[in-house]
Amino acid sequence: MEKKRVFSGIQPSGRLHIGNYASAMRNMIALQDEYSCVYGIVDYHAFTIKFEPKEMDDRVFNCAVDYIAAGINPQKSILMLQSTVSEHTELAWILNTITPISWLERVPTFKEKKEQNPHNVNMGLLDYPVLMAADIIIYKAAVVPVGDDQVPHLELTREIARRFNSLFGETFPEPKEQLARVSRILGLDGVNKMSKSLDNCIYLDETKEEIWKKLSTAVTDTDRKRRSDPGNPDVCNIFTMHKAFSPKKDIDHCTRECRKAGIGCLDCKKILLDNMFTELEPIQKKQKELRKKREYIYDVLHDGKKRAKKIAVETMDEVYEKLGIKVFH
Ligand code: TRP
Repeated sequence: MEKKRVFSGIQPSGRLHIGNYASAMRNMIALQDEYSCVYGIVDYHAFTIKFEPKEMDDRVFNCAVDYIAAGINPQKSILMLQSTVSEHTELAWILNTITPISWLERVPTFKEKKEQNPHNVNMGLLDYPVLMAADIIIYKAAVVPVGDDQVPHLELTREIARRFNSLFGETFPEPKEQLARVSRILGLDGVNKMSKSLDNCIYLDETKEEIWKKLSTAVTDTDRKRRSDPGNPDVCNIFTMHKAFSPKKDIDHCTRECRKAGIGCLDCKKILLDNMFTELEPIQKKQKELRKKREYIYDVLHDGKKRAKKIAVETMDEVYEKLGIKVFH
């Protein structure tokens, strides 16, 4: 039997942070054997926010490096740059014609971005989820590994697929999100989601010393004022990070000792630092090697384009047939 398909995408923001890694990337890596996976560097989506064209090539390159360094195997999975398979935008246009504007206006990320970028509320920002739906259903993906902030987008994707199917006949399966064990890591401020624009991230390529600098001042349980106060791991973002990076015995130890003030926050953070860095170190080694191989990375994306395009064109042929267009298709 043919393997079911997976699609997911990451914006080429320049640097991946541990939130991206733990909430989505790990699942992307884990699904590679059981599914036929397509992973995109979604530059079309990145264009919706003001950017510097001079930086784009490096952003794309680094994103591809991060994918491979973290464990995406480009021989197994398809790693592609979204804009090289322009069928994504082609399908997005068709989907636009069946998506009510009111569905898009209520998407939470649109509301957030409108507030963050009040001088650049462009059509692309509103249309972002339709393009994302196209990314997914053009490959007829069944499973989409993402962080929990993407769930509303997946709900919309299902609604759009359902509407297409009911108007033009069964074409697209309804994809399901796959959330990680820890699907949301807050930033160092302990309040906002980890996000580059808020400068509250730990990046995948930071040294142990750099990470320690950030962790040591990161917000914990704000009710624990003194070392002698017992803490509450349930409300502590450092504890969330433990759940994402530490083995059970360390999590149990920190929970127990925190609750009775047996350890202080710094002790707890040191244990986290060691576990986190154990996972990041081999990734960083690969990042360093891959950053010297620009040609290789471009070759991977070129190959990904060819393989992805084949699937995307097939879907578009079917879409035009369903729409009744026959002249050239
Ligand atoms: N919106 C996603 C994010 O910001 C990126 C993305 C674009 C995506 N297209 C996708 C994720 C399709 C999953 C599937 O993280």
